[in-house]
Amino acid sequence: MPSDFALNPLDPATRRDPYALYARGRREHPVFLHDGLPLRVASVFRYADVQAILRDDATYSNSFPLEQQLAELGEREMPPPSMLGTDGDAHARLRGLVNKAFTPRIVRRLEPRMEAIAAELVEAAVAAGEVDLVQALTYPLPVTVIAEIIGIPAADRAQFKRWSDEAIASLGLVFFGGFDRERIERQRRLLDEMRAYFVPLAEERARHPQEDLLTGLVQAEHEGSKLSHEEMLQMLILLLVAGNETTTTLISNAVIELLAHPDAHARVRREPALLERAIEEVLRFCSPVQFDPRRVTRDVELGGMKLAKDDYVLCWLGSANRDEAVFERADAFDPAREKNPHLSFGFGSHYCLGANLARLEARVALGALLARTRAIEPAWTGELPLHPSPVFRAVTSLPVRLA
Ligand code: HEM
Repeated sequence: MPSDFALNPLDPATRRDPYALYARGRREHPVFLHDGLPLRVASVFRYADVQAILRDDATYSNSFPLEQQLAELGEREMPPPSMLGTDGDAHARLRGLVNKAFTPRIVRRLEPRMEAIAAELVEAAVAAGEVDLVQALTYPLPVTVIAEIIGIPAADRAQFKRWSDEAIASLGLVFFGGFDRERIERQRRLLDEMRAYFVPLAEERARHPQEDLLTGLVQAEHEGSKLSHEEMLQMLILLLVAGNETTTTLISNAVIELLAHPDAHARVRREPALLERAIEEVLRFCSPVQFDPRRVTRDVELGGMKLAKDDYVLCWLGSANRDEAVFERADAFDPAREKNPHLSFGFGSHYCLGANLARLEARVALGALLARTRAIEPAWTGELPLHPSPVFRAVTSLPVRLA
């Protein structure tokens, strides 16, 4: 039967409110093959299917030769993939090198420092009265924290922001025909700039080791087989970029949802112990990362649809997190929700390395904001500006009045 169902993740109206379409996708087209795209791309909407894909990395790979092929349109060789773009043993090797810097115990040790940074940012914002909260708090906190973990000067954060923005602006566009030669060239220039920044710092750490992640990576590189020079650079870039927009978005989205749900806002102020659950609910209700792509490695059937080797599947985390089969009152924002197995940090072997860190940063930032204000009010008119990449459910500015 012909259907009028379509999902265009580049359409601004769809991006602002995709939930009715996701619900229809889950009901009528759980695995939906897009039409008219340069690649064969299927969208997957149900929680169970998304989870099954992310758990099966032999059938659904995170390594995309597609990017490699596109890059070959340029003249030079591409660098090796980061841990995010590898599978199996190659992935485990890279992840194993940095895992221990992000365990809950190590991350908790950062809490006092995070509290101090958040207090300073929130106090300046409250003194200003009306601010863009992205500039004032939700961006500077995560970038300062990751810069300190890696061991690069937080004073360069304006530069990191420009890099992160540029690196992720075109994320996901490749699936919708929006990745062209000019973008590839821009990515290459960006990589050159980042390399020029990191190489002298790495050389300096080789001469003068310190207690930071950069020193750990440099030592792994010098032990020979553990990490090549280019792999080390890819790791640094991934760590610098992966946690910035996402954590900024989590904190911004939390404020947006609290403003949209005054009862929930009042309740979290009254019962600060609810903050942890409220953050999980923000992650579920408006997932910073809306879809997670994979490449199919063999012919397979999913949700009644035949998928072929080298098709792409987009796992819609934003839809899985609203699946009525898993979440009661899935479309309600409930800051006290008890059972909340959302997929916002992914699932399986690529489960977000920075999940503990992001949760703690959100708790510290929102805790400081709620404790030091009596009221937060929207100071924008019309629509908030959306992030350019369809991967993110994010705004780029959030004007508020604080009292
Ligand atoms: C709310 C904030 C965050 C969200 C929503 C988020 C989301 C995600 C998701 C969905 C994945 C899985 C990607 C996949 O399956 O292909 C992922 C992986 C990853 N995230 Fe996060 N992330 C956040 C914060 C952070 C932070 C703070 C860091 C800093 C270290 C970080 C570093 C990473 C890395 C390195 C990976 C790749 C892991 C791997 O390939 O094994 N993320 N993240």
